[in-house]
Amino acid sequence: MHIRTAGIAPKVHPPEAKAERVNTFFAFFWQISCICHFFFVPLCPVLKNVSFVTEISMQKELEVFDLIGRERERQMRGIELIASENFVSDQVLAAMGSVLTNKYAEGYPGHRYYGGCEVVDQVEELARTRLKQLYGAAYVNVQPHSGAQANMAVFMACLQAGDTFLGLNLSHGGHLSHGSPVNFSGLMFHALDYSVKESDGLVDYDELERKARAERPKLIIAGASAYSREWDYARIRKVADEIGAIFMVDMAHPAGLIAAGLLKNPVKYAHIVTSTTHKTLRGPRGGIILMGEDFPNPWGKTTPKGEVKMMSALLDSAVFPGTQGGPLEHVIAAKCVAFGEALQPEFKTYQQQVQKNAAVMAKAFMDKGYNIISGGTDNHCMLVDLRNKYPELTGKVAEKALVAADITTNKNMVPFDSRSPFQTSGLRFGTPAITTRGLKEDKMPEIVELIDRVLQNPDSEANIAAVRAEVNKMMADYPLFAW
Ligand SMILES: Cc1ncc(COP(=O)(O)O)c(C=O)c1O
Repeated sequence: MHIRTAGIAPKVHPPEAKAERVNTFFAFFWQISCICHFFFVPLCPVLKNVSFVTEISMQKELEVFDLIGRERERQMRGIELIASENFVSDQVLAAMGSVLTNKYAEGYPGHRYYGGCEVVDQVEELARTRLKQLYGAAYVNVQPHSGAQANMAVFMACLQAGDTFLGLNLSHGGHLSHGSPVNFSGLMFHALDYSVKESDGLVDYDELERKARAERPKLIIAGASAYSREWDYARIRKVADEIGAIFMVDMAHPAGLIAAGLLKNPVKYAHIVTSTTHKTLRGPRGGIILMGEDFPNPWGKTTPKGEVKMMSALLDSAVFPGTQGGPLEHVIAAKCVAFGEALQPEFKTYQQQVQKNAAVMAKAFMDKGYNIISGGTDNHCMLVDLRNKYPELTGKVAEKALVAADITTNKNMVPFDSRSPFQTSGLRFGTPAITTRGLKEDKMPEIVELIDRVLQNPDSEANIAAVRAEVNKMMADYPLFAW
């Protein structure tokens, strides 16, 4: 199967001579593919079902596929250090680009509002079975279109408008959907926050407990977008039980490491767990909801027959019809493929390498005098506070200079930041994507050296160009997906 967009890109964008060679190769490959298609597809139901017919009609659409080809080139030539990004396998891509996108399937397997759902029912059931196996969950929902949608469904199932909940402060590593005033979570509900400690960058569990006891939120959220340490889920569950709150963990970032058994599994501690599927878990862009065990909803909500509804029923209704319409069955198929990959032994090896790469990268930064929040990492990411090393350099300027050198990262607030979210004093780095490309720990000090050269002189185009040439040379040896 090769649903490769680069094969369709007809234009070449200078000055990348290598990219030109790649495109020439793909053009040749494309012609061979077409010949093979006409001769072999009638004999091969698998190929016939997946894609080539689509590829031929795609030739009419030059503009978009040219852009997709250019994006692929960008991904190929750079060092991708955005902690929330990854590269998916060809199988995940193929499932996402399949005819399942044509199908409406509002509802859940066996209970749909549309006919013709026999096949997508099986796809969704298989995805649910694999996901349950991956995390030891009794209940899962694979329909949320994204991580924020999964969180929204949990809010809808557990809270009424105006209810109080408690989550990690956004500027201390939390996520928008955990209470930011510009997000539904902060606009529709009463958001309280807890912080990390200035002294060591670790979650301030004393503050969390104090606020929980004083304010009695209905929901407590753990999980973050920029926190590099393990969580004390048991401690949060204890206080949640004490005040009768629901404890939710958003494991979007470390989900892959958790699936591989390298970090604690929040499904064992929390009432409800949400996640994205596209970060360390290395699936398509999407969301999921899980529970270790189902339980009667604590607010006494009943069915028309007067039976107390189970939490699973509230969550399912909150996803559909509460916050979404038809599920993206092509994405659910791609999630299913990714869960299948995550169940393989090599996924654990991959995640071990992600963790090792992150630890070596954090040490390399610290050896150069950079301040890593919390002094290191337990997972795949790290947050660098630039202020001690380059007091005048903002995260915004640093990000721009690094991107110009084909090193992709993102500016990030650091805890107790003296700058605004538009400027920031920090950069967030993560290793899932470069590990998927096959880079091992020996390359991490080299990458940090390249980053440091850019940050030493971020205004010099000559400096940036010299680093970019080295970055492109380094990455020319690695495929997008090496595992
Ligand atoms: C902790 C956390 N939760 C939720 C999300 C939202 O995911 P999505 O972008 O798929 O809505 C993110 C995204 O970065 C995240 O880091």
